[in-house]
Amino acid sequence: MRKPVMAGNWKMNKTRDEALEFIYAVSDKLPAQNQLDSIICAPAIILRDLVKRKGNSLKIGAQNVHFAESGAYTGEISPAMLSTTGVEYVIIGHSERRAYFNETDETVNLKIKAALANDLKPIICCGESLEERETGKTHEVLERQITKAFEGITSENLSNIIIAYEPIWAIGTGKVASDEMADEACGYIRSLIAKLYCSLCAEEIRILYGGSVSPKSVSGLMAQPNIDGGLVGGASLKSDSFIELCNKAV
Ligand code: 13P
Repeated sequence: MRKPVMAGNWKMNKTRDEALEFIYAVSDKLPAQNQLDSIICAPAIILRDLVKRKGNSLKIGAQNVHFAESGAYTGEISPAMLSTTGVEYVIIGHSERRAYFNETDETVNLKIKAALANDLKPIICCGESLEERETGKTHEVLERQITKAFEGITSENLSNIIIAYEPIWAIGTGKVASDEMADEACGYIRSLIAKLYCSLCAEEIRILYGGSVSPKSVSGLMAQPNIDGGLVGGASLKSDSFIELCNKAV
């Protein structure tokens, strides 16, 4: 019922030439659009080039956006600017942005609203640290992040939103969460959406798991009832590996 998603987050990797090489290598090897949303979230400076050359089965996303329409924000990119590149998605609230660039639950909420107002589909990230998991605070953290992220967002927007559960301890560590642990957290997020909106809304929204997903671990994760796909860092950088992830996700 929910179309699966495989989203690569390249983070601060790949020059324009490397990115184009990747795009050409994957273009005719991905599942059809009606089977899977295959997405690459790339650095802002190459987005327009990728949108022009992405082919039929790949979608392009950004990794960040500012919430203001314009103004004195040196180095930032507005939602309208991003929109004119032709990208469809934007990652919002990645834990690396929260940790290194002072993003808060409040700015995440502002960015989501700004993205939606400019026809960009947010991929909203949430997830707990190792300390929070070990002290039994996972649900508390997810409830705070999700409740604040969705403040003022109406249910009509939900079909344009993807949520990504990314436990911080699993990102870039090779320590993938167990299938059951990842499913439990995604199920909990689904129950929060039911509480904030409605049970049909919760059934329909797509929730991804992210954190050391690889071609090896993807099938087990995708088999879980609450997991609709992956947000993948390291394993999305090589074309062969991304092709394998996408094909295993359908
Ligand atoms: P890795 O897949 O490299 O652990 O990164 C996950 C991530 O942060 C995706 O947004």
